[in-house]
Amino acid sequence: MPLSGKRVVLGVTGGIAAYKSIEVCRRLVDAGAHVIPVLTDAALNMVGETTFRALASEPPKTSLWNDSHTIPHTHLGQTADLIVVCPATARIISDMRTGRSGDLLSATLVATEAPVVICPAMHTEMWDHPAIQENIGVLMDRGVVIVPPEEGRLAGGDIGKGRLAAPETVVQTAIATLGADIPQVLDGRTVVVTAGGTREPIDPVRFIGNRSTGKQGHAIAEAAARAGAKVRLITTSNLPSGSQIERTDVVTAAELHREVLRAASDADAIVMAAAVADFAPSEIAPHKIKKADGVPQIVLTPTVDILADLGKRKANGELHALLVGFAAETSNVADNARGKLSRKGADMIVANNVAGENTGFAHSTNAVTVYAIDGSEVALSLRSKAEIGTELCVMISQRL
Ligand code: CTP
Repeated sequence: MPLSGKRVVLGVTGGIAAYKSIEVCRRLVDAGAHVIPVLTDAALNMVGETTFRALASEPPKTSLWNDSHTIPHTHLGQTADLIVVCPATARIISDMRTGRSGDLLSATLVATEAPVVICPAMHTEMWDHPAIQENIGVLMDRGVVIVPPEEGRLAGGDIGKGRLAAPETVVQTAIATLGADIPQVLDGRTVVVTAGGTREPIDPVRFIGNRSTGKQGHAIAEAAARAGAKVRLITTSNLPSGSQIERTDVVTAAELHREVLRAASDADAIVMAAAVADFAPSEIAPHKIKKADGVPQIVLTPTVDILADLGKRKANGELHALLVGFAAETSNVADNARGKLSRKGADMIVANNVAGENTGFAHSTNAVTVYAIDGSEVALSLRSKAEIGTELCVMISQRL
């Protein structure tokens, strides 16, 4: 079992999503972990101690003061192999950033050197607030693993981003994090990663875009940095990234092309995870197109195929980087991916069926098949995008 012999502290804070932590607890135990739940006062308003008593490996702990240990937080923090905070409210995120230790969970988080995974869940407005995003960025810089919230139904009937990730994703991330002492396989290497979907403006307020969120590209960039690489991330996404990553934000395919070329010259590998528009409006209307002017005729022209351009430059000897492309497909995945491999001059194509369940755009999980120019074909079944990122880094390192 993947978590056999591991002591996992499961911190539960007081969001409505706390009920899902019960399922996370059960799945962690099923994966072999020794699970010690730590519930905050607010969590106790949402879920009961009895449930955790029945499912976890030890009775839940709820206070700094009622434990047989005189200093329970240091005991918990020092002996944990992993701490998972699920759900993580805005309050605990802000406590973690500042090191405030007002209750057993926050004190344990300060008293540990174990890896920490947090699963934020809150209303969209709270998640988008600069204070929260800044706190998340700081925690990521410190190595805290974030399981990003998903889009969906929120408390009170609202719909938007902020819903706790699925229990399965949380547990997969916990497993990946414990197995994430990834060897420094990319030490001394420079890796360029593109992420997100480009937006091609039609007029000052409208654009042609796609459904890519950048999650997979960002996960690859994070994994490459963990594996020791110097990482240049060129992204259209507003997802956070750690400070060890050199980040350039772009919007259009043309900007992405320009920045990739700028970053490519001394790169050892270039991973084109971005969903680049194939066509862009030939002209951008200088003013908002008005309905009263009738149905607009938008003429599109092809954008540069960046990966194919890199492939050509490599063939000419201008570039030496290993080229890794993605293939977002909804049918004939294998044939289309192999076609892209030769057509674009790539060394590897990572194909995902974006129409599959729990795979592709916006999900935190993915399932891909990696086709390489040497004819090999490796299928990575459904797992977190973080794990896919780690596996890809190992595969890339084997070809450098
Ligand atoms: N790509 C690129 N520049 C473009 C279009 C795509 O660099 N203008 C890259 C993507 O980043 C990805 C790969 O090419 O790594 C394949 O992208 P995909 O959209 O699947 O393929 P397309 O070339 O657009 O082909 P099709 O639309 O026929 O599937």
